[in-house]
Amino acid sequence: MLQGKKIIIGITGSIAAYKIPLLVRMLIKDGAEVRIIMTPVATHFVTPLTLSTLTNHPVVVESFDPAHGTWNSHVEMGQWADLMLFAPVTANTLGKMVSGIADNLVITAYLSAKCPVFLAPAMDMDMYLHPSTQRNLEVLQSYGNTIIEPQTGELASGLSGPGRMEEPEKIHKILKDYFSGKDSLLKKKILITAGPTREKIDPVRFLSNFSSGKMGFELAETAAEMGAEVLLIAGPTTLQTRGSSICRINVTTAEEMYHACINHAPGQDVIIMAAAVADYRVKEIHSVKIKKSKGNLALELEPTTDILKSLGAVKEKNQLLVGFALETDHELVNAQAKLKSKNLDLIVLNSLNDPGAGFGTETNKVSIIDDQGTIYPGQLKSKKAVAQDILAIVVKKLIDNQ
Ligand code: CTP
Repeated sequence: MLQGKKIIIGITGSIAAYKIPLLVRMLIKDGAEVRIIMTPVATHFVTPLTLSTLTNHPVVVESFDPAHGTWNSHVEMGQWADLMLFAPVTANTLGKMVSGIADNLVITAYLSAKCPVFLAPAMDMDMYLHPSTQRNLEVLQSYGNTIIEPQTGELASGLSGPGRMEEPEKIHKILKDYFSGKDSLLKKKILITAGPTREKIDPVRFLSNFSSGKMGFELAETAAEMGAEVLLIAGPTTLQTRGSSICRINVTTAEEMYHACINHAPGQDVIIMAAAVADYRVKEIHSVKIKKSKGNLALELEPTTDILKSLGAVKEKNQLLVGFALETDHELVNAQAKLKSKNLDLIVLNSLNDPGAGFGTETNKVSIIDDQGTIYPGQLKSKKAVAQDILAIVVKKLIDNQ
C-alpha cells in the first residue's frame, strides 16, 4: 500500500519525537519515500542526523540555507507529498495551524499542503484537555485534517491521562489503511444528499429541522478522497465543500431535492440519502406575512414526496441505495422496516437516545444494517470516522454485487 508513496513528516517540539525514527523505518520498509521537516525545538528531542540517515535525505529545519545561498521551498513540498503527517504536534503548533501563523517551515509546509493531512497531537493532559486545544482540534478537523487521537497513559510529566501520542505502529497502520482505502471508490459515481430542507410558510417563515449537514458533507468528502465522482445535493447549510471532485447542487425544499435526485439518479453507482428531508410542507404558502392575531393559528400540512422511496422504486440493476433512519424508539425494528419498504441495500441507524449522536454534533454513533439482515454496530466516533465506516461497507457491497 505504501510502495512509492511520498510522505512528509513534520516533527514539532515534544518528547514523543523520539518515537518518530521507528515510524520512519516502518514506512521506508514498506516502500514509502519519506522526507522530514522539523521545528528548531524538535531537534532537541531527536537529531536530524538520525532522521536523515534513516530517510537517506537531508532533514530541513530552516527556510534559508545561507551556506549554499538557497532556500527550502515549502510550496514544492506541498506539491510533492501524497500525504503529510505532523507528529508529534504540540499545542503551540495546533494553535498556529488554526490561525495560519507561518513562523517556521513546518507550518508553511502545512499551509501549502495539497494532500490529506494527518495530525498526531502529543502534550501533557492539562494542555490537551484545555478548551483552546480542544477547540483548535475541532477547527483543524473542520478544515479536513484527520486527527490521530492521543492515547491515555503515562505522560512525560509523570502524570497519567490523555495526551500520549499514538504509538508508531498504530500511526503506521492508519497511514496504510488510508492508502489501501484511497482508490477503492475510483471512478464510482456517488450521489449524496445532505442537510435539512426548508418548507416555506410565508415570505418570512419556514418549517425545517436541526440537521447541520455535517454527516452528509463528511460522506461526500470521504467518498471523494476514495476516488469517487461525487454529486452532493445539499439543503440549506453554511458548510463548504473541500474536495475538488465534488460537484454540488444547492436546493431549498423537499420538492427541489426530489427533482434534483430523480434527474441525477440514472447512472449513479451509489446513492446515499443522508439529508433530513421534511416530511410535511404547508399546504398553502401564504403570499404575504401572516399577521399575529389573538387566537391560535392552525397550519394545514401535506406530506412531501418520500425521495428515498421514489429512488427505491426506480433503482437500477447493481445500483446501491443507502438510507438513513433517525429514530427515538424501537430503533432497530423501525430501521429494518424502512430498509424493506424503501427497497434499500443499506440503512444507517441513528438513535437520538445516544449521547453525542445526531444533529449538530461533531460525533455520531450509528449501526448499519444490510438487506441480508447483517447488523454492524458502531461506537461513538467523529463524523469523519463514521463516514469511513459507512463507505467501507458500501465498498464491500459493491464488490459482493460484482
Ligand atoms: N427521506 C426522504 N424523503 C422524505 C423523508 C425522508 O428521502 N420526504 C429519507 C431520508 O433522507 C432518510 C430516510 O428517508 O434517508 C429516512 O428518514 P426518516 O426521517 O428517518 O424516516 P421517514 O421515512 O421520514 O419516516 P418517519 O419520519 O416516520 O420515521
